[in-house]
Amino acid sequence: MKNIAVLVSGGGTNLQALIDAQNSGIIKSGRIRAVVSNKAGVYALERAQKAGIETAVISKREEGENFSHALTEFMKARNIDLIVLAGFLAILDGELLREYKNRIINIHPSLIPSFCGDGFYGLRVHQAALDYGVKVTGATVHFVNEVVDGGKIIMQKAVYIDPDDTAETLQRRVMEEAEWIILPRAVELVCSRG
Ligand code: GAR
Repeated sequence: MKNIAVLVSGGGTNLQALIDAQNSGIIKSGRIRAVVSNKAGVYALERAQKAGIETAVISKREEGENFSHALTEFMKARNIDLIVLAGFLAILDGELLREYKNRIINIHPSLIPSFCGDGFYGLRVHQAALDYGVKVTGATVHFVNEVVDGGKIIMQKAVYIDPDDTAETLQRRVMEEAEWIILPRAVELVCSRG
């Protein structure tokens, strides 16, 4: 059984999908032991507390150069095996990436390599897809390395764009039809691989 930590920054619907998948048995090779936010007061922390999961706030602004070390110490103290970035909007670097090489995964709301990299997060990703005029988008789960959104792809799912989509409607559909489905599956896959 792997120990999982989930990193969040906002509403936490992907975290909720992971909690639900743990309860329904889709995730059976790991358990969420902690949820860490880089911002205080976000709804994701409440979701974790309701599910009886330990929470913490480790802020990049407050920790500064110590951010990566603080996260690494937190993870090691709890014997965390896998770190899941679920709407975590701070960029990771240094010690954590070295210590947890091939053991950090991220969900990104597009089909990588489209609409990804520095500056592509949240609604901006969907607005960029609409501005370009692509007819298909989706979501990607990938390993995290030093290149933003550049690690090995684990799973992807496509979503068709409607002619009258806005960034908001598209974001919601990509979550419902892709993110909340592939993130739990990818977590189970990585945990079960050993
Ligand atoms: C999700 O759409 C996630 O894919 C995206 O932020 C949203 C967080 O929502 N992540 C990125 O854009 C990362 N580059 P949530 O807090 O409700 O899970």
